[in-house]
Amino acid sequence: MDPPLSATAVAGEVAELCVCPTCFSSLRAAPSGVECTSCGTEYPIENGVVHLLPEYEEDERLRYLANYEEVARADLEQPFEHDRHVRHRVLLDFIGDVSGLRVIDVGSSHGGYLTQMHASRRIALDIATPFLEAIPEDSGIIRIRADAETLPIAPGSVDVVIVSDVLEHLLEPERFVQRLMQISTPATRVIVHVPWEENISRYEASAYEFTHLRSFTRYTLGQLLFAFRIARERATYPALEEPFVFRTRRFLPLWLYNIVTWRYFHRDAGQKEYSRRARWIEELPSRERWLVRFYRPLFMMFELRLLEPALSRPGYLAPLPVGLGRPRSLLRSVGIRLRAARRRTR
Ligand SMILES: C[S@@+](CC[C@H](N)C(=O)[O-])C[C@H]1O[C@@H](n2cnc3c(N)ncnc32)[C@H](O)[C@@H]1O
Ligand SMILES: [Zn+2]
Repeated sequence: MDPPLSATAVAGEVAELCVCPTCFSSLRAAPSGVECTSCGTEYPIENGVVHLLPEYEEDERLRYLANYEEVARADLEQPFEHDRHVRHRVLLDFIGDVSGLRVIDVGSSHGGYLTQMHASRRIALDIATPFLEAIPEDSGIIRIRADAETLPIAPGSVDVVIVSDVLEHLLEPERFVQRLMQISTPATRVIVHVPWEENISRYEASAYEFTHLRSFTRYTLGQLLFAFRIARERATYPALEEPFVFRTRRFLPLWLYNIVTWRYFHRDAGQKEYSRRARWIEELPSRERWLVRFYRPLFMMFELRLLEPALSRPGYLAPLPVGLGRPRSLLRSVGIRLRAARRRTR
């Protein structure tokens, strides 16, 4: 464990690592926190947490902030995800060695996996104060309350950016990606963990206004992160709720499919399969690597790298709002953009 950082030490480090979330100019230490060297806005440090949020006035943004303060309090009292540690174990394994590197966890929550990482500098950034205050002071982690969409990090000041289960929550993920592009270099390791091809209709009944706002597929994620290439990827958390045998119709002729499903219900094949599958769920992440070959993954992990400027043509096919619109309207607007781009190049 590192010794707790004093408020002055935190202010000094933050002035070096961060920028103003309002105008993106540099910061300097101030008596009660840090202040912008350009627009003069002051950002306080309270209970060791640096508050780097812009002054929001829009009603939706204010409701979003209140929503996540409430989510954080409820989640700290009674965790929403019962097997979060399993997901975190797999994520830590995927991230690998970060010793000597500067790591930021965007949407860190209470630092579940960040506290277990050995890095030269660890920054937890979240929109919800209760989560950040729950990170032990003696962890040596710099705790920043900020909005990923106005990511107040100075270009080149981190080596690893973790964005785990956050992109699906953001109001305008394109704004975050824009900031991510500005702070990254082609050497920055960007680790993204997202729910995969999720049916988000179940969140309609949620007690919270803001939860998962979109679902990701290869296309929608690729479109959002168009300026990045995939350096590594791994499918994770197999959807084991249904027996595999009912997914074999694509490969089996009907007569054989009928036999195997008949055996499932009318012989004890079903019983055996059921208990075996229940055990696999219980023992995850064991066997995960081969299970995801047969069962669709509920999450995907990627390590991304910013494309070299020569390979990236920002603005050629600007990312469309992710998850919005029916396929027809989506295709039509891509067509319009392509036609406009063609006209420009003529
Ligand atoms: C599902 S949790 C994921 C937590 C952690 N990264 C993990 O994988 O377990 C989403 C987190 O993102 C935070 N969050 C939501 N919107 C955010 C935003 N605009 N900026 C920063 N953090 C945000 C929430 O407060 C919450 O801690
Ligand atoms: Zn400023």
